[in-house]
Amino acid sequence: MTNDLLRTGRDDIVLRPYDSGMLDEVVTAANHPEVARYMADRFPFPYTVDDGEQWIDHASSQDPTRSYAVVWNGEFIGGVGYETFEAELNGTVEMGWWLTPSAWHQGIMAVAARALMDDLFENRGAMRIEAPVMHANPNSGRVAEKIGMTFEGVAPSRYVKHGVRYDQLNHGITKAQWESTR
Ligand SMILES: CC(C)(COP(=O)(O)OP(=O)(O)OC[C@H]1O[C@@H](n2cnc3c(N)ncnc32)[C@H](O)[C@@H]1OP(=O)(O)O)[C@@H](O)C(=O)NCCC(=O)NCCS
Repeated sequence: MTNDLLRTGRDDIVLRPYDSGMLDEVVTAANHPEVARYMADRFPFPYTVDDGEQWIDHASSQDPTRSYAVVWNGEFIGGVGYETFEAELNGTVEMGWWLTPSAWHQGIMAVAARALMDDLFENRGAMRIEAPVMHANPNSGRVAEKIGMTFEGVAPSRYVKHGVRYDQLNHGITKAQWESTR
């Protein structure tokens, strides 16, 4: 049942598949330079209605759903999702996340990301999950650590944002590590 909403263990935070009715909320939540700053270049600023439409079209057509809207007390506040790797990296998954700034610093993303991580290991065949983070973004690294990922090292100059190269901090967790904490 991977296209249904994902519960987090907290009634106020749920993960929902995107739908077109979220457009205004998505654009309002995403349109902040401090959100785009450490995201991949495909997450733009300014974040326009066109950007929101394209994203929702893409995300809502996934089967199974890989990109989830984070909904807090009924309000859209950000996204969490994953990409799978093909062929020899089958079972390896990369997660990413963002929240609108007014929702930062309340521990929300750790709750949301843990729910998706648990579902990936329990129900979707993940064997390893990783979360690469730009060196200049320690708050995202803390989210990775809070959900049980280990800091695995630095990949110098691995990341490019707006043409500038940054070191990447690699965090990851294997299924065996995840099972050992349960
Ligand atoms: C990364 C992000 C999702 C973190 O989500 P969050 O729910 O705010 O995370 P947390 O509340 O767990 O806080 C993470 C860390 O931020 C720091 N922090 C918390 N409150 C803070 C405050 N008031 N002031 C400054 N830093 C603070 C702490 O180090 C905290 O870790 P700790 O709780 O172990 O002390 C959010 O900052 C974000 O959306 N950033 C923009 C997009 C982005 O960079 N995405 C990730 C790309 S890899």
